[in-house]
Amino acid sequence: MIIAIDGPAASGKGTLAKRIAAHLSLPVLDTGLLYRAVARDVVAKGASLQDSAAAVAAAWSLDSATLDDARLRGPAAGDAASIVAKMPRVRLALLDYQRDFAKQPGGAVLDGRDIGTVICPDADIKIFVTATSEERARRRHLEHQSRGEPITYDAVLADIRQRDERDSNRDVAPLEAAEDAITIDTTTLNADAAFAAALQVISAKAKPPAPVAAPKG
Ligand code: DC
Repeated sequence: MIIAIDGPAASGKGTLAKRIAAHLSLPVLDTGLLYRAVARDVVAKGASLQDSAAAVAAAWSLDSATLDDARLRGPAAGDAASIVAKMPRVRLALLDYQRDFAKQPGGAVLDGRDIGTVICPDADIKIFVTATSEERARRRHLEHQSRGEPITYDAVLADIRQRDERDSNRDVAPLEAAEDAITIDTTTLNADAAFAAALQVISAKAKPPAPVAAPKG
């Protein structure tokens, strides 16, 4: 079973994807990490994030063993990722890795921006996770505070809005819900309630259609 989970920054899609994957014993891929790692590798080469040749080269030579890197967390890495993610040839270079991950025996859970629309248009289950930008900023700000990072709520909100704008208005694979995705708005849901809502979507979709009664007589 392939489960596609898309949504804007800080919507809770990553947490949800991991929980669903653990519940169903499926492998999970946070595809945002791929774009974050490409941006990291561009900067490590001393190139500008706007340098598309450097970004495309970094994308083709990306080593998936380097995705577990603390430097990929945090808003600066996310902003950098959204710059290289606008480049069509970067997206193309990362396509096969994501599709191969999805095609593992038994399936997989992938979360990102274009999983249900571009990477796995035939996914069995598509969920679009969203929440208001204010609520997403509130949650992100709490995370920063818990790590003792000095950043204001207003700065977090501005960052989220800028990222939404860049991810939603790019020419290739913009952030959008697939036509056949089920939207879960987590603005008023905590993580447990969002998980319960997602499990409902999955069990409703996974259920075989009711048999049609044979005509009598
Ligand atoms: O999900 P995230 O915050 O880690 O993603 C970082 C950036 O990467 C995001 O702003 C846009 C880009 N991205 C993308 O374009 N497509 C994906 N499937 C995942 C992330």
